[in-house]
Amino acid sequence: MPGDKSISHRALILGALATGRTRITGLLEAEDVMATAKAVAALGAEVSRSNGTFEVTGQGVGGLLSPRAPLDFGNSGTGSRLMLGALAGNPIEVELTGDASLCRRPMGRVLQPLNLMGLEVEDARATLPLKIRGTVDLIPIVYQLPVPSAQVKSAILLAGMHAPGRTTVIEPLPTRDHTERMLGYFGAELVAEERGEGRAITVCGDAELHGTAIAVPGDPSSAAFLIAAGLIAVGSDITIEGVLMNPTRSGFVETVREMGGSIELVDLRHEGGEPTADIRVRASGLKGVRVPAERAPSIIDEYPMLACLAAFADGETRMAGLSELKVKESDRLAATEAGLKACGVEAHVEGDDLIVYGKGGVKGGGLVATHMDHRIAMAFLTLGMGAREPVTVDDTTMIATSFPNFLALMTKLGATFS
Ligand code: S3P
Repeated sequence: MPGDKSISHRALILGALATGRTRITGLLEAEDVMATAKAVAALGAEVSRSNGTFEVTGQGVGGLLSPRAPLDFGNSGTGSRLMLGALAGNPIEVELTGDASLCRRPMGRVLQPLNLMGLEVEDARATLPLKIRGTVDLIPIVYQLPVPSAQVKSAILLAGMHAPGRTTVIEPLPTRDHTERMLGYFGAELVAEERGEGRAITVCGDAELHGTAIAVPGDPSSAAFLIAAGLIAVGSDITIEGVLMNPTRSGFVETVREMGGSIELVDLRHEGGEPTADIRVRASGLKGVRVPAERAPSIIDEYPMLACLAAFADGETRMAGLSELKVKESDRLAATEAGLKACGVEAHVEGDDLIVYGKGGVKGGGLVATHMDHRIAMAFLTLGMGAREPVTVDDTTMIATSFPNFLALMTKLGATFS
């Protein structure tokens, strides 16, 4: 599996905020992460690649330099939002931009808490492109997240590294915790505790981070496509090696098991401080299930694939609490519903829930609109592996943002593309 995208972004950004060298093995070499690598280099960190290992020599907390040109994050919400947090405590002016999809996505959710800490934003804009000015006098805050978002949480924690005193983020539902884990390896002081309002994570500011070695495990969000292919393509028995099994990311595997999917975790181990496993998947009959809203953060990027899988199940699958899907690389709730319908599957959105009426098989044959969204493209191409008629997507270029060898790997598994 290619390296995890979330961990790859964080390794580069923390490497730039640390003193000394950070060696990263298994970094995801996809467009989103490469945009972050270019951004950290433009901010003064040294980034080099040799024999597949990336090395970042950081500038230290508060030591980022003014870039000569706007930082272009391409399609990446994670790169741009985390970087806003990392930039807030540096007294520099920076322009950030991205592609058409990223420039439509909400940045206010990150800028609002960062404004409270002292970040200035030109013209009070809430979407890219934006021009910001950081400050050495950041103010530590206590912030209750209005939406469960690891990107917002991470941006505040990264800014908190630069503020004097303690910065606390309280999350209503647990979201991916890679920033917390990685800040710990880089030497930050950090405490997580359960409170009535949710999980509170506190970082001690004016921190010093030290470069370290990071081994990036395989991306479970990319593995979800291979798992789904293994479940729906008749006679499959495949093993996917070295996949991240962090509990904040494993809702897809948990749900697929409830649906009756044959998934075995082989050789559970720890790699780079994260749990990983090899995943053995065998073709399986599936049944419809109810997926609770509380599980949404741990499946968030896998819903398009899960919804497609639900079409192969017998009975209704209701996925609750999907409002955050509307603000991803596309409105994934609408795009998934429309794609399913184009492939002959009965599905509808009810409030923030998506309901798929599984009939044990899928006709296929449809043309799916991807709306510049890599995961919509990959989910529906994967659905095509189990459908009676081939499935067409209108664009595959965006797949390179997260999973450049997707077509090659799926071909190895027996898919044919034309
Ligand atoms: C990510 C968090 C999630 C996820 C995104 C990656 C991260 O976004 O959808 O693909 O690396 O922190 P939100 O934090 O906006 O939910």
